[in-house]
Amino acid sequence: MAIDKIDIWNADEEPRLSAVLSECWALLLDGASDPKHDLYTPALATNDPAHGAMVRTVVLRHVDRERRQLTFYTDLRSRKVGEIQADPRVSLLFLAHSDDTQIRVQAEARIHHGDALAEEAWAEVSLSQRRYYMVSGPPGLPWAWPTSGLPERLENHPPGKAESQIGKLNFAVVVCTVSQMDWLYLTPYGHRRATFAWNQAGQLQTSWLVP
Ligand SMILES: Cc1cc2nc3c(=O)[nH]c(=O)nc-3n(C[C@H](O)[C@H](O)[C@H](O)COP(=O)(O)O)c2cc1C
Repeated sequence: MAIDKIDIWNADEEPRLSAVLSECWALLLDGASDPKHDLYTPALATNDPAHGAMVRTVVLRHVDRERRQLTFYTDLRSRKVGEIQADPRVSLLFLAHSDDTQIRVQAEARIHHGDALAEEAWAEVSLSQRRYYMVSGPPGLPWAWPTSGLPERLENHPPGKAESQIGKLNFAVVVCTVSQMDWLYLTPYGHRRATFAWNQAGQLQTSWLVP
């Protein structure tokens, strides 16, 4: 069901918190379905005990409002996977320039590899994108010369289906279950901010905040 966009300044009344929450999920759903949408590429922060916060861009692949889940894909060998395994608490930062909206998310991440969920996701990954998971070493591995990490013939050419299966060994799906969402809406006349937090039992607490 399409949800009307919030338009605080042209409405007679302030939006209800429930409408704001629906707006957040609607924006996230839009983001996951459109590579040109600002919310397609959030920043993901993890915790590294030695270095503190680590942040990088990921692609938002799926949004499930019912389960409160945001999903991205990654290389099982990447550094973030070890960080998530050690501490599954992650943050995601979304900035929708066009909607003057920032959404900050706290979530618990779970890595799926070699299970039914990962199999299903892998089946949907295009041959061209399967190359991301076919690089010769873990992302971040030092190399003596500039490299794509791919054999030359794959640099401008997708692999065949059989050949691409090697990438499945490195393919992981990361499902983030949202525990808190912070919405900030910017206007020249005064901003608005709200928070939404779910407890362990899934009960929702909401509040307006000073921006
Ligand atoms: C536009 C963009 C999209 C990206 N999408 C992903 C992604 O979906 N998953 C991923 O693991 N890395 C993605 N990356 C690469 C990461 O930002 C990062 O460089 C890489 O995952 C290594 O991170 P790590 O060493 O912290 O694990 C993306 C980078 C950019 C610039």
